[in-house]
Amino acid sequence: MDIEAINSLPYEDFVSIFGNVVERCPIIAAAVWSGRPFPSGAAIEAAINAFIEALPESGKEGILRCHPDLAGKDLQSGTLTPESREEQGAAGLDRMGAAEVSRMTRLNAEYKARFGFPFVVCARMNDRTSIVEQLRERLGNTQAQERARGVEEVKEICRLRLQSLVHSDQKHKL
Ligand code: GUN
Repeated sequence: MDIEAINSLPYEDFVSIFGNVVERCPIIAAAVWSGRPFPSGAAIEAAINAFIEALPESGKEGILRCHPDLAGKDLQSGTLTPESREEQGAAGLDRMGAAEVSRMTRLNAEYKARFGFPFVVCARMNDRTSIVEQLRERLGNTQAQERARGVEEVKEICRLRLQSLVHSDQKHKL
């Protein structure tokens, strides 16, 4: 969809199309809609990032808590959002053996017990080996470092999800 078409969407449609660019946080799309018209897809991304940055720390943690565990029970039971399903699949998290899944489950639980929110990493920029490595490494950080790092990962996930929704190709005005 090109930017002109996006700018003419009523908020119901905008939220239904962009509501999951930040995982399970449609309120963010609902909030940034007021900032139309957007000059570009990058401007939508900037508005989302500004909204996230303006949140109190508890709000940022809330966004992290809306994310399902990687290779967690939502993946096993088929209840992931389509975006998360695709990203976790691309990282190979749907093709792990039982031992790998249980190691991941243990590390995710340890991470959540330590920080109070789930481990979030941009799955599309990683594979299952680098995800496990980062999970191990990041367990050594402080809570403030992890809150900030998780939010940066959310922004990266959002950037890639937006990229697949916004096309500037003038030949294909949808
Ligand atoms: N990275 C990309 N998608 C997701 C997700 O749904 N959950 C977590 N924890 N990380 C992600």
